[in-house]
Amino acid sequence: MQAASQIQQEIRRLKKEKNAIILAHNYQRPEVQDIADITGDSLELSRTAAQMDGDVIVFCGVNFMAETAAVLSPEKCVLLPAGDAGCPMADMITVDELVYAKSRHPDAAVVCYINTTADVKAESDICCTSANAVQVVNSVKADTVLFVPDRNLGQYAARFTKKTVIPWDGYCHVHDGYTVEDVKTAKHAHPDAVLLVHPECRPEVIDRADLVASTSGIIRHVSTAPEQEFIIGTENGILHRLEKECPKKKFYPLSARAICPNMKKTDLVKVRDALVNMYPRFTVPEEITNRARGAIERMLVL
Ligand code: 13P
Ligand code: SF4
Repeated sequence: MQAASQIQQEIRRLKKEKNAIILAHNYQRPEVQDIADITGDSLELSRTAAQMDGDVIVFCGVNFMAETAAVLSPEKCVLLPAGDAGCPMADMITVDELVYAKSRHPDAAVVCYINTTADVKAESDICCTSANAVQVVNSVKADTVLFVPDRNLGQYAARFTKKTVIPWDGYCHVHDGYTVEDVKTAKHAHPDAVLLVHPECRPEVIDRADLVASTSGIIRHVSTAPEQEFIIGTENGILHRLEKECPKKKFYPLSARAICPNMKKTDLVKVRDALVNMYPRFTVPEEITNRARGAIERMLVL
């Protein structure tokens, strides 16, 4: 078996040769985060995908992320090293289901979480991420918002708006899996720690948190906060960046169960092989690209 450092070296060489950029989500394996040009949350990664130079984007994440990059940069070759890495929450709504829901709520604006397929984005008015869901919901003209597919994020945004939010009944199994019992156990074990959680968590977990933010929002908060200990209520891959950027502070996962198997499918060998073979490549049909881009760009303009 080749050493990780040797594969990392090969990846660096291939990156130059192919004029590629590597984007990694904050939940990726530590060694994958370490080889990336940019590690970030969904908003930062889609902004980078929209603006970057280069011919090739290697997306270390799950399929809706690579799809979003392909929609924003259709002239680039977008590779998803773990071609089968999906998001179960994104699969909790189909375009036909959305079209039917729209017919039942004709006056509602559709706000779709970025964790959706491109054809669902194409049927939506505007996209959002966990970093800007509240702002996006408040930005639409309609008084009613159909929010898809994450019910927890939709309910969280509803706390900060006068609009009527109708949340879809989807959820992220990682974040929805945190319980009040997890909060009690972690706070009992670490009484001085601050609790930071992601808005994909259940309302009763959010109610007990000191801060609710996207993954990069959590990282930014920790780096400037005076406190020294933190309980982290989002997928445990984030601990790598937190420990790297704030080596003197202490981090405790809210639950050891908080692992997204799809986010862990990418490894160094798959990144290297994707660059060698220029495969698995992501493309989106032109007609869907054009309509989905509108929803994403309206969000990026905000
Ligand atoms: P953010 O990094 O945008 O907060 O997203 C969390 C997530 O679950 C992505 O799949
Ligand atoms: Fe989907 Fe949740 Fe995994 Fe993110 S962490 S990819 S929302 S299942």
